[in-house]
Amino acid sequence: MSANSPAAVVVLAAGEGTRMKSATPKVLHEICGRSLIGHVLEAAYALSPQRLVTVVGFAREQVTGHLEVIAPDVRTAYQSEQNGTGHAVRIGLEELGGSVDGTVIVVCGDTPLLTGATLQKLAATHTADGNAVTVLTAEVPDATGYGRIVRDGESGAVTAIVEHKDATDAQRAIREINSGVFAFDGELLADALGKVRTDNSQGEEYLTDVLGILREAGHRVGASVAADHQEIAGINNRVQLAEARRTLNERLLTEAMLAGVSVVDPASTWFDATVTYEQDAIVHPGTQLQGATHLGEGAEVGPNSRLKDTRVGAGARVDNTVSDSAEIGAQASVGPFAYLRPGTRLGVKAKAGTYVEMKNATIGDGSKVPHLSYVGDATIGEYSNIGAASVFVNYDGEAKHHTTVGSHCRTGSDNMFVAPVTVGDGAYTAAGSVITKDVPPGSLAVARGQQRNIEGWVARKRPGSAAAKAAEAASRKPDGES
Ligand code: UD1
Ligand code: MG
Repeated sequence: MSANSPAAVVVLAAGEGTRMKSATPKVLHEICGRSLIGHVLEAAYALSPQRLVTVVGFAREQVTGHLEVIAPDVRTAYQSEQNGTGHAVRIGLEELGGSVDGTVIVVCGDTPLLTGATLQKLAATHTADGNAVTVLTAEVPDATGYGRIVRDGESGAVTAIVEHKDATDAQRAIREINSGVFAFDGELLADALGKVRTDNSQGEEYLTDVLGILREAGHRVGASVAADHQEIAGINNRVQLAEARRTLNERLLTEAMLAGVSVVDPASTWFDATVTYEQDAIVHPGTQLQGATHLGEGAEVGPNSRLKDTRVGAGARVDNTVSDSAEIGAQASVGPFAYLRPGTRLGVKAKAGTYVEMKNATIGDGSKVPHLSYVGDATIGEYSNIGAASVFVNYDGEAKHHTTVGSHCRTGSDNMFVAPVTVGDGAYTAAGSVITKDVPPGSLAVARGQQRNIEGWVARKRPGSAAAKAAEAASRKPDGES
């Protein structure tokens, strides 16, 4: 815990977010692999607060259920009616016993671009200046809708925050706005909240009024100006959601590139905030990396690939592939046009080639499944080759069964491995075989009908046809010509 770690963080998330036009509450909408509130909590965690409380209201069950999954240590307080931001903070403080000894940071649940670094700077300024309240502000190109920061003409000190709806024309010309993020002295905050009135245009308890109340009582009021105004942007509709996603994605890609990852086309590449990588990885256009995906050193992914929770080994090549919860070994090769489903594990230099689908399958080092195959519920040893167009027949209509293929096997094209079945080390299977019985090591399994040629069949059954004429012409040619 740092010297500036606050006693508590209060996250305001009771509002409905009507303008999202959605059955999903606003703070649960997602960008870059996390909910909006998930991003805010991530920034809050950077402060190592002693306690964290989220004020919920609209769609309370949904929001609380989500928080239990992503942040089980976070408490929730219920604001049954949204009577304003001041009222919401009061409810949050009640959950913490009414008043808190130390710094209380207030953030909104819909500002996903806010960084931990900016919150740390706010907390540090607040402590260093000995303020009763410090507001995070920003200069924005268009201040419409925001609360304006009113400063003293001479000293430049913050005197009040005036809501857009309550502001005079002169105040509306101010471009410095309230981000909605504050650091407070916990005890003074609780005291001042008791004095907030509702005689404003919205009939609400404004948190922003606390600032004027504290100042009039002779306490120090300060401001911390955010370096990047984009950080404090609140999401109100889906246009802003998409803008925030692009901004955050650019931030994540910039970080990756500065760490040594080549992103060929940042405009068509999308990273979740949880993606990790090593240097000299290359990402080609049209690629989406999600969840806990990791790129090893020199791994090359794309174009047009979507990898979720997938580990790509050093120097592996993944092309035009969809992958979920797979592990791709070093220097392995995947695609073009492969689909790796959960539980796929490719060894070093292994291959899942074109039009190959795998699920719950372990493919040993150097083993290859190059073309047009389904490998489900299987273990393949090392340096084996699976012939084109093979199916690991794992489902009998009721249960899934496992197939084992040993090392150094050569299975023929168009094989069906009807599980459960085992092909021993060094065994071969003939093309077109339906393997229903175990194949002992080193043997050749042939499991198909014998070929019969019925000579003259076309001439008898299809007389006069083009086929019959071609056959007739072929029979007149000397041997060896065709
Ligand atoms: C608020 C600020 C404004 C600031 C802006 C920044 C006040 C009075 N105004 O305005 O100065 O520029 O944010 O985006 O504080 N909430 C609750 N319960 C409530 C009301 C709101 O939990 O009763 C939550 C909302 O879910 C949201 C946040 O508080 O996360 C802000 O509320 P919102 O209604 O968006 O306030 P603004 O009008 O945008
Ligand atoms: Mg708002």
